[in-house]
Amino acid sequence: MCGIVGYIGEKNSIPILIEGLKRLEYRGYDSAGIGVISNERKETRVIKSLGKVSLLEDKVEQTSIDASSLGIAHTRWATHGEPSVVNAHPHFNKEETLYLVHNGIIENHTEIKAKLSKDGYEFVSETDTEVLVHLFDSLMKKGNSLLKSVQIGLSEVRGTYGISVISKNEPDKIVVAKKGSPLVIGIGDGEHYVASDVNALIGHTSRCVYLDDGEIVEITKDKFVASTIDDKDIKKEVHEISVELDKISKGDYPHYMLKEIFEQVNSVRDSFRGRILMSEGTAKLGGIERIAERLANSKRLLLSACGTSWHAGLVGEYMLEQFTGIPVEVDYASEFRYRNPIVDRNDSMFFISQSGETADTLAAMKEAKRRDALILGLCNVVGSTIARESEAGVYVHAGPEIGVASTKAFTSQLVVFALISVLIGRKRHLSLIDGQEILRELEALPKKIEKILKLNDQIEAIAEKFVDAKNFLYLGRGYNFPVALEGALKMKEISYIHAEGYPAAEMKHGPIALIDENMPVVFIAPKDSVYDKVITNIEEVKARKGKIIAIASENDNEIDKLVDYSIKIPDTIRMLMPILSVIPLQLLAYHVAVKRGLNVDQPRNLAKSVTVE
Ligand code: AGP
Repeated sequence: MCGIVGYIGEKNSIPILIEGLKRLEYRGYDSAGIGVISNERKETRVIKSLGKVSLLEDKVEQTSIDASSLGIAHTRWATHGEPSVVNAHPHFNKEETLYLVHNGIIENHTEIKAKLSKDGYEFVSETDTEVLVHLFDSLMKKGNSLLKSVQIGLSEVRGTYGISVISKNEPDKIVVAKKGSPLVIGIGDGEHYVASDVNALIGHTSRCVYLDDGEIVEITKDKFVASTIDDKDIKKEVHEISVELDKISKGDYPHYMLKEIFEQVNSVRDSFRGRILMSEGTAKLGGIERIAERLANSKRLLLSACGTSWHAGLVGEYMLEQFTGIPVEVDYASEFRYRNPIVDRNDSMFFISQSGETADTLAAMKEAKRRDALILGLCNVVGSTIARESEAGVYVHAGPEIGVASTKAFTSQLVVFALISVLIGRKRHLSLIDGQEILRELEALPKKIEKILKLNDQIEAIAEKFVDAKNFLYLGRGYNFPVALEGALKMKEISYIHAEGYPAAEMKHGPIALIDENMPVVFIAPKDSVYDKVITNIEEVKARKGKIIAIASENDNEIDKLVDYSIKIPDTIRMLMPILSVIPLQLLAYHVAVKRGLNVDQPRNLAKSVTVE
């Protein structure tokens, strides 16, 4: 998953490209580069650097480049070939007349490379991408236009791509193409932008078109012509970009992750705003209204996702089964697609994805489509591929989430699952009173989240005690078991400390062997129907000298006698407790990582949107 930016118009492209890469840096940040064609002498220039975009920016500032109104740029998350300058994009042909940036994986790059090598092409990088630029170059040398060369070349390619290509021989256009990796075109007056997602377009234009798989577009400063790879003209719908610039800046926060944790007062409210029908005790979800009856009569509800979104699915499973009475199954998307899943048209399948671009989740969706299930998206990014390729769905409305570690998207996903549970439940056996209780508790969440965020200093002080921890164990029961998994994921992905989440009762079946005075154990232990059993687990850990942090109810004074640290949070109904109990765990992981001096927003080896399998 990399970030691609392109510009063609009247302005100098270089600052636009650099700013665009910074906006997309959460998609990949091990190396970056730009390739431009100067206005006067039509000179091509490429500058690449290892590391973050800011290092590329420094390099560009130290280089004198003529004004160039045509350029492409790329920030990389390495798949084939280690992070290095030579492997950074743009890649180019020997004569440096053709530049290309790519997001995705060319599966048959070895075959193509062998063929081109036989024709005398020399390869300088270890990447799969480089085969594309030489393939297109070989076709242009046979007299094909840039567009035709890309069309013919891509017909030989297997794999996924989002590409932008420019040529010194046709210095008035960019050719872009998409299959499996996102690309969006920003429409300006006398200028056009290309980007991997709309965050790079905000502030430049509010109009865009999203490319679909198998599409190729020739873009000049005044127009764009879209066609399929097999050369059929197509008409693209223009969309409005509704995100404002302030939504994607850090503001006064030191990190996007902290900003997004604190935004949860509003993002949770935005997720249910306008969707509560209190008098009927149900929810109004426009994106699934049309298929609501079919959904309510599903034989099974299947949920598929990766990472944090998979954890949201686990909470959704508890909610949906409790309130709709329909059997629910949750799958890792990456596993679902390799099983031979028994799925048919009586099943409804939700694909949960913050980015809406996760390759494994997209692939699972394609597999489910082949089996006629009702395909539903539960995404945060408007216009994302999963959202556009689903039959229906619900946007979670968390707002742009830039920090690689997902926080507000997770709590918004849970709000949406609660709304879906009420909507379907009220078409089945959920009473008006029970529906109204859930909705009232949803409306009460923002104030409770505000209270929890006031514990930030206390949580930071606790984090201080665990900066040198080597392991963490997270334990929870029922609705809070997925929260234990999510808390562990937050800790490991930003602090690089090994952490595991487990059902609290499972501890006796192995993990208890890990407990000693060096093992911090985090319990999610609100006063609910399984509280007494969790207290028993706490006592088992205490008896073995484990260091215990408990997320507990604010009116629970007993637990303090048993644990080393207690973080007291407001209560709510069981099904909504994960939305509250996860927030202290987000803050705990954040502060431990910051105190370890790590890059919280862009942790090593990770990227925000995993668009490769
Ligand atoms: C969560 O903090 C991680 N960044 C990661 O597990 C993420 O949830 C996963 O890659 C799925 O992403 P998606 O929701 O955009 O599909």
